[in-house]
Amino acid sequence: MEPVVYLNGKFVALTDAKVSILDRGFCYGDALFETMRVYSGKIFHLDLHLDRLERGADRIFMKLPETRERIQEILYETFNRNQGADAVIRMTVTRGVGVLGKLWQADTSPTLSVYVRPYSGPPDEWYQNGVPISLIPNSATRLGGLPEQIKSANYLSQILARKQADEQNSVDGIMINEQGEVCDGTISNIFVMKKGVLSTPAVNGYVLAGVTRQVVLKLAAEAGTACKERSMTADDVVQGDELFLTNTGWEILPVTCVDGKAVGSGRPGPMTQALRQEFRKCVDAEIGK
Ligand SMILES: Cc1ncc(COP(=O)(O)O)c(C=O)c1O
Repeated sequence: MEPVVYLNGKFVALTDAKVSILDRGFCYGDALFETMRVYSGKIFHLDLHLDRLERGADRIFMKLPETRERIQEILYETFNRNQGADAVIRMTVTRGVGVLGKLWQADTSPTLSVYVRPYSGPPDEWYQNGVPISLIPNSATRLGGLPEQIKSANYLSQILARKQADEQNSVDGIMINEQGEVCDGTISNIFVMKKGVLSTPAVNGYVLAGVTRQVVLKLAAEAGTACKERSMTADDVVQGDELFLTNTGWEILPVTCVDGKAVGSGRPGPMTQALRQEFRKCVDAEIGK
């Protein structure tokens, strides 16, 4: 069955959903997006996704075209018009159709789209054995002047870094900035466990405040694990006892190899496995199981 999508006030078949070539999202990446996971009909931490969307919109002076409550309704309505209880929702908000070469005008109205696809997770083997990643020097970029990375639709840096990682058969590339700091993956945040302390790069102009990252930090702290959000280097990563990546689709994904070399024991570590279990419990609690 063809997916039904939401576009600017209408629910239409995916093939009928058309956006102007003058849309600023298409022309300049002048847009924000969110990727959300639906478990048994419930959007996981929708509140945190909407908080991040609103923060991003504020930072780029974009007025969202609908209220928070209406966006929630639109997301669930689009989900309900499609099949399956486990899904991934992609919401995109662009600045809208503008006059090329000009700054946007006061009457430029944003384009809002919602697309739902069935969830198909990574192979089980990735969780059982862990995955390889690559470190990609000088690849992390920031949007000038912003103190915190936003989830903008301008993803070229991430796409180029991911291409390099893919050529090395890695599932993600960890972007490093020109100061030598480890930032985040191209589609994930990174965590390092060393001597019982869990560290992750602090959110800043280069590092996205991942929703999964936030949930994992809370779960780890509740389990009594010491957590640090700090500046990190490539050495911190390769010398870690355990590593894992987080994102909405992967949840917590163990990493066992960096740039072709085994890290830690070369197997998914016990802390990573324990956190994965806590994460599953957190999902069950959200969906009321
Ligand atoms: C650059 C980047 N960092 C981190 C993440 C993880 O964010 P979340 O946990 O909200 O999915 C993503 C997700 O796609 C991302 O693109």
